[in-house]
Order: sequence, then structure tokens, then C-alpha cells
Amino acid sequence: MPAIESLGAASRSSPLWSPDEVTVIFVLGGPGAGKGTQCAYLVSDYGFKHLSAGDLLREEQDRPGSEFGEMIKTYIREGTIVPMEVTVQLLENAMKVAIEKEKKTLFLIDGFPRKLDQAHAFERTVVPSKFTLFFDCPEDVMQERLLNRGKTSGRADDNIESIKKRFRTFVETSMPVVDEFESQGKVVKIMATAPPDEVYKNVQEKFKERGVEPITLKFVHN
Ligand code: C5P
Ligand code: MG
Repeated sequence: MPAIESLGAASRSSPLWSPDEVTVIFVLGGPGAGKGTQCAYLVSDYGFKHLSAGDLLREEQDRPGSEFGEMIKTYIREGTIVPMEVTVQLLENAMKVAIEKEKKTLFLIDGFPRKLDQAHAFERTVVPSKFTLFFDCPEDVMQERLLNRGKTSGRADDNIESIKKRFRTFVETSMPVVDEFESQGKVVKIMATAPPDEVYKNVQEKFKERGVEPITLKFVHN
């Protein structure tokens, strides 16, 4: 990727796509709230393209020759937010590929925007979002899930020290994004303490209320 100051979010002033062409639903919630799990269900029933900002950052971090690799590694370990130009560009690149090669127009963007500047830059230069799906979960539940995941995830930030820092970043930096979208009537809030299939039932109900319908018809055989 080119230097940070020439990336789209820093240099473009109008969106690449209109919300009529491309639908984006942001998926937010603290670390361990179950964003990835719920996105997987939604992908199979609704045909969304799922893009996880954290996964794209980890991929870029590991890409040989990336000028941002070392920087990303530090931010992730410290649980702080990577400069938005990088994350917005990675999302934009992945969306372009999905639109052109896979003919996708429905996107779930998971773990983004985690900071107000990311939200503003994305909606200004890529496409305005339809709404934000927000998974609400108490810290003790998320902590237990993350420590469990840490046994097998191989992630550098699923340890108690990084987890505490990520919780702090979430409260101080990411919740203001949820609050801002909430004030625009653009948040669908779901309690995320129950088992995944129960949480998903609530998600489906809320999507229906917002006019988002599943693509697959399920036939019941007698
Ligand atoms: O969403 P996930 O837990 O995979 O994110 C891991 C880390 O990636 C975050 O703690 C943060 O350091 C970074 N990140 C970011 N901006 C985002 C999403 C993730 O800086 N929008
Ligand atoms: Mg995730």
C-alpha cells in the first residue's frame, strides 16, 4: 500500500459507493461479545460478505513487505486503535474485490468503526452505513470467553493484560461511536450473554424489523 497520507480516507472527499448500490451494516461490541460468531450465522442465512477489521489488520501485519506490519503489531498488542487511514483502506480494498469478483453488495463489517474518526472517514469516503448491530455484554462474561479462546486462538492479545487494555479502549474510544449512531437512530442493540443460537434469534427478529430478509428459504419436510 502507498504512504499513509495518500490513502483514500486521507485524500478523497466523496464516497466511492452510494447506499443504494452497496449496503453496509457495522457490527460492534466489546472484545469477546460474539461478533464473529453471529456474523458467521448471518453470512449463511443472508448472503452477506463478512469483513472483520481485526482479521484484515492481522493479515496485513503478516504480509511480507508490508510497511505497516510492525506498527499494526504494536497497536494490537497494546489493544489500541490502528490509525484509521490504514484500516479504512484495507476495508475499501477488500470491498472492491468482493464487489468486482464475487458480485457482492451486502456487507457485514465486524469490529469497525472502533473510533469516531474511523466512522466519519468511512462514511465520507467509502459508503454511509445502513445501521450498526451492537452486541451488549458484561465484561466478566467477555473476559471468560476471551481467556478460553486464548487457549487455542494463537492471538497475541487474548491474554489478561491485553484484554484489560482492550476493555478500556472499548469503553473510552469505541462506545462514543455507538452513542453517536444511537443518537441518529442507527443502532440495533442485542444482549449477548445468552448462548449463540439464542442471541441469533434476537438478531433475526431485529433484522426483520429493519427490513433485512434472509435469502434462503428453508423447507420443512414431513
Ligand atoms: O476485532 P478484533 O478483536 O479482532 O481486533 C483486534 C485489534 O485490532 C484491536 O484490539 C485493535 O488493536 C485493532 N483494531 C483496530 N481498529 C479496528 C479493529 C481492530 O485498530 N477497527
Ligand atoms: Mg472478531
